[in-house]
Amino acid sequence: MRKTLFVFIITSLMLYGCGGKTESSAYEEVSVTDTTSVEKDFEMYEMSEMAALMEQMYVDNQRLKQRIIDGDTIGNFPEHFLRIHESVMTDESERDVFFKDQAAKFLEAQGLIYNDSLNAKQHFNDAVSACVKCHEQKCGGPIPRIKKLYIK
Ligand code: HEC
Repeated sequence: MRKTLFVFIITSLMLYGCGGKTESSAYEEVSVTDTTSVEKDFEMYEMSEMAALMEQMYVDNQRLKQRIIDGDTIGNFPEHFLRIHESVMTDESERDVFFKDQAAKFLEAQGLIYNDSLNAKQHFNDAVSACVKCHEQKCGGPIPRIKKLYIK
């Protein structure tokens, strides 16, 4: 029972995390080991500052999506999104020219939602596309989840 639970938790992290090489090999190990080593693997997963920021942005944009759908006030640009430029990542070598460029484009798209709120839906969907565009290169795992943010 315990084992099943841990395997389930780890599998969700695989699905929602970036799904890099280390993670998938950990996953294979998990499916053949006993409870003790499963727990050990689980404790080894520590979310980076960047991953935590990403999860926060996800939740913030989920709420923003609902406000746009309901026609509520949009509020102000969430300043903590700017931390995408400096948050510590799991793999710092990912912070290349592409990343910096895409981070800037994403923040610009996100900013337009607040600066031109009459077209909030369009700008919101452009910002989600900017999330997806970076993720296509950097971190494929969460893409299906990110796409759920689109306002239809
Ligand atoms: C400039 C590139 C870039 C942009 C833009 C970007 N991401 Fe990410 N995202 C990453 C990288 C790189 C990681 C892996 C971070 C790490 O593990 O340190 C990540 C991780 C994630 C994760 C997984 C976090 C975890 O639990 O491990 C989610 C969810 C996520 N991003 C959602 C989003 C959403 C939603 C947006 C837009 C609102 C977005 N991302 C915009 C590059 C980006």
